[in-house]
Amino acid sequence: MFIPMLDNRSDLEKPFTDPGMWQCSICAHENDTSNLSCELCGVLRDLSLYFNNISETEAGAKRRNKYSGVSVLARSLFAPSSTKSKAIIFSDGSQDNRNATGNKQATMDALHKTYMPSKKRHINIAVQIKDSVDATGKKMMDSGILQTEKDTSMDPCTSAEVDKLGGTSSSVPSSNQQVTPILDHELQHLSLESKPKSSKPKIKKPASISEYKPEPWMLQSEDQEIRRQLNLAIVGHVDSGKSTLCGRLLHALGLISKKQMHKYEKEAKEKGKGSFAYAWAMDDSTDERERGITMTVAVKYFDTEKYHVVLLDSPGHKDFVPNMISGATQADAAILVVDASVGSFEAGMGVNGIGQTKEHSQLIRSFGVENLIVAVNKMDMVEHSKDRFNFVKLQLGIFLRSCGFKDSSITWVPLSAMANENLVTAASDSRLLSWYNGNCLLKSIDSLPPPHRDVSRPLRLPICDIIASITLGQVAVCGKVEAGGIRTGSKVLVMPSGDLATVKTIERDSSSCNLARAGDNIAVGLQGLDPGHLVSGGVICHPDFPVHVASRLELKILVLEITTPILVGLQFELHIHHARVSASLVKILSLLDQKTGKASKKMPRLLTARQAAVVDVKLDKEVCVEEFSALKALGRAFLRSGGNTVAVGIVTRILDEAKV
Ligand code: GTP
Ligand code: MG
Repeated sequence: MFIPMLDNRSDLEKPFTDPGMWQCSICAHENDTSNLSCELCGVLRDLSLYFNNISETEAGAKRRNKYSGVSVLARSLFAPSSTKSKAIIFSDGSQDNRNATGNKQATMDALHKTYMPSKKRHINIAVQIKDSVDATGKKMMDSGILQTEKDTSMDPCTSAEVDKLGGTSSSVPSSNQQVTPILDHELQHLSLESKPKSSKPKIKKPASISEYKPEPWMLQSEDQEIRRQLNLAIVGHVDSGKSTLCGRLLHALGLISKKQMHKYEKEAKEKGKGSFAYAWAMDDSTDERERGITMTVAVKYFDTEKYHVVLLDSPGHKDFVPNMISGATQADAAILVVDASVGSFEAGMGVNGIGQTKEHSQLIRSFGVENLIVAVNKMDMVEHSKDRFNFVKLQLGIFLRSCGFKDSSITWVPLSAMANENLVTAASDSRLLSWYNGNCLLKSIDSLPPPHRDVSRPLRLPICDIIASITLGQVAVCGKVEAGGIRTGSKVLVMPSGDLATVKTIERDSSSCNLARAGDNIAVGLQGLDPGHLVSGGVICHPDFPVHVASRLELKILVLEITTPILVGLQFELHIHHARVSASLVKILSLLDQKTGKASKKMPRLLTARQAAVVDVKLDKEVCVEEFSALKALGRAFLRSGGNTVAVGIVTRILDEAKV
């Protein structure tokens, strides 16, 4: 059995620096006495509360151990600060002061069941290529010749606004855990078919795609590709070891040279961040390295026997949840990294309310990710204890089930990224070997089921970034092909402007290619159009089968754990793939009965937490959109107000479609 190191200090021994304030034992941030947990890093003031769920003996041992399991970053990440809220400085120089209230969020399970009732789900939304973010917020391609001209007004990827999703599950008191299964059960009867009968606004039917016939080259990939592309998001609480894990993996696979690794080690040591040497392979900006945290999504590649893996290393800090979302929305599967250390796992679970282990799990599930590898990291910190691993598995397993993950779709892998234990070869530490004989991480990745691709539908490439090539005089767009295929020399339709353009180049994994298909993250060089007509949030389409462009939508939404009701007339921000637009709630068409899924009340005037409803929303600008039933990636919506996500939903009907 794992016996933690003892620490004689009492739990409540805190270095008070100011009467009326308490200083966090982990990050040294000064908190108001009214805060039960640190508003910055989320660690509870009274660490003993972490252990409410375990036996008294174990809890006693762990209470004495409050510092032993705390990882290096948790202690050193945040410099002591006299201010209560942290100012985040963004690439564009703007600042965003925020408190730690965070956003409250209802479980997503009901939503998954509602929106994806039967068939295989797959991830569909966005792409952000981090390699290219420079200090001014511009993006540079690997080649160095391409420069981003990002329309920040429409693009959520690099928005200076920091989402308040950070508090999601956490702001919901522990009672949320009990509410969750009930809510899930009640909402599971909801279905897409349940539509309101009253007051239907004018509808224009989308053009039929039944005549569309994919060309043979679009379908070839299934058999002919040696390796399929797998977009793999690495998510989890801040400091759980995501970047270290990625760096270690790449190093073990021979993708980081000895010389390069030596350079990382030397530089990290010089900066007093020796333990971050492997993370530096992913965190390449000065800010990230100085602060020791990931801020944007890093993209790297490696191959397994079956897959060409696109590794998307997400930031774990709650202030960068929007960036995490931009990476996770393109994931086919995910690795959820949890820190097994005592206190750190519990912080990630958000006993205090700000755990990103839970929030990230909910989010990736809401993006359609079904298959999850849980990397129980830092096992070296808990002496490779089977008991600790089982404890993590039990606690987190309950939550993942409540999010809608099936037990059979979750793989649990104990490992130590730092010690290169159980990453690319079988476990070697005798303590781990004594009880674990499962797959190492690499084998677990290779065993993931192949992702489904919408290759036989008309082309849809939502634009994440717009890049101007200085040398070629071209304009290029970045994004993930969500449906169909694209080939050099072909004509494409750029929406919403309706311009026709010719595909001059396609770049995948920083090398040029002739074609790309659904699932591929690419940069496409276009010719023959006015670059000013390109916007982030636009969509590149098959010329004969354009995406819908609409300014009024019917949405089926699930209201999250909000405190202020959503009233008819509310102005909010609507996010659909990479588009972000101001919108207002015109009508609540019906409230959906959570037991039967039927419209139980006609046109209520307000919505409260955890209610499901069908609503009519009017957008200030037209957006490219599809009904969810036609293409999931372009039919998922997030409603945000006051910096918080207040509801998540799907597009059930396109109303008042624009003529382009
Ligand atoms: P964010 O991206 O900021 O959310 O952090 P992260 O999850 O990427 O964590 P990162 O890889 O930056 O590692 C954080 C700290 O954990 C570093 O000090 C690492 O050295 C340490 N760490 C990572 N993996 C292990 C491990 O297996 N064992 C131990 N003991 N420490 C580890
Ligand atoms: Mg990181």
